[in-house]
Amino acid sequence: MGADTGNTGSPDIRCKGLAKVFPGGVEAIRPLDVTFEGGRTTALVGPSGCGKSTLLRIIAGLETPSSGEVRVGGAPPAEIQRDAGLSMAFQDPSLLPWRTVRGNIELALKLARRPPAPHAVENLIRLVGLDGFAGSRPAELSGGMRQRAAIARAMVTEPRLLLLDEPFGAVDELTRRQLAEDLPLLWEPRRTTALLVTHSVVESVLLADRVLVLSPRPAGIVADIPVPLPRPRAAGVAETPEFRSIARAVAEALARGMAQARPPLAAQ
Ligand SMILES: Nc1ncnc2c1ncn2[C@@H]1O[C@H](COP(=O)(O)OP(=O)(O)O)[C@@H](O)[C@H]1O
Ligand SMILES: [Mg+2]
Repeated sequence: MGADTGNTGSPDIRCKGLAKVFPGGVEAIRPLDVTFEGGRTTALVGPSGCGKSTLLRIIAGLETPSSGEVRVGGAPPAEIQRDAGLSMAFQDPSLLPWRTVRGNIELALKLARRPPAPHAVENLIRLVGLDGFAGSRPAELSGGMRQRAAIARAMVTEPRLLLLDEPFGAVDELTRRQLAEDLPLLWEPRRTTALLVTHSVVESVLLADRVLVLSPRPAGIVADIPVPLPRPRAAGVAETPEFRSIARAVAEALARGMAQARPPLAAQ
């Protein structure tokens, strides 16, 4: 009990010598030493198949590392899961098909043993742009709408740790931009520790305090880029020279990682 959550109330995440080789020999993560500070948003950017989801799943306690360890607020990941302080949203949202959007979101509250909060649920539904669809079932929604429902479901419990794995993958470009602007308004005041996996350089810089650029598999850190842009980040921020220069640094690091991967780097 009692994960150490520091003074932000949100846990830090420490990975020490964390590595993953799947049975069968696929090396997904090379030994990784990294700390994600409590209360901050970090974006993980890397090529497809490099090990991003594996890393997130290990941090969530859904997968075990083959060596090294993860501590969430000083404790094994299972602990924060047990006290319902952790929420996740994945690219492939696992909504219950027989429940409505509202029903799926309310269920998350119930499972976390939180009191019903109709107002908060309606607010979130509006925020993710699903106004008018609260009573719809997942099969009646587009892929992007389902992802947005899953994001609302992840946020409704006000988690201390939020893990988002390409949550905007199926969301159309215009809505993505809107979500990238609106969602941080929810998790920032609460100082949630957030990890966001994304393919999009712009999204990473828009949302995060820090961008970690990963190499092709096995994932290793190519660059660790701070994003010192003021918050909240208004619509126009992506057009500023500061934003563009950070986005360029991320894109260049991605390209560098790809180039270095051939011939493959030896695991450390
Ligand atoms: N359960 C598993 N068993 C074996 N290999 C896996 C498993 N899960 C993922 N992998 C492999 O590990 C690598 C990294 O996968 P993943 O973490 O999903 O990448 P990303 O999320 O960056 O696209 C891939 O080569 C993938 O095929
Ligand atoms: Mg993935």
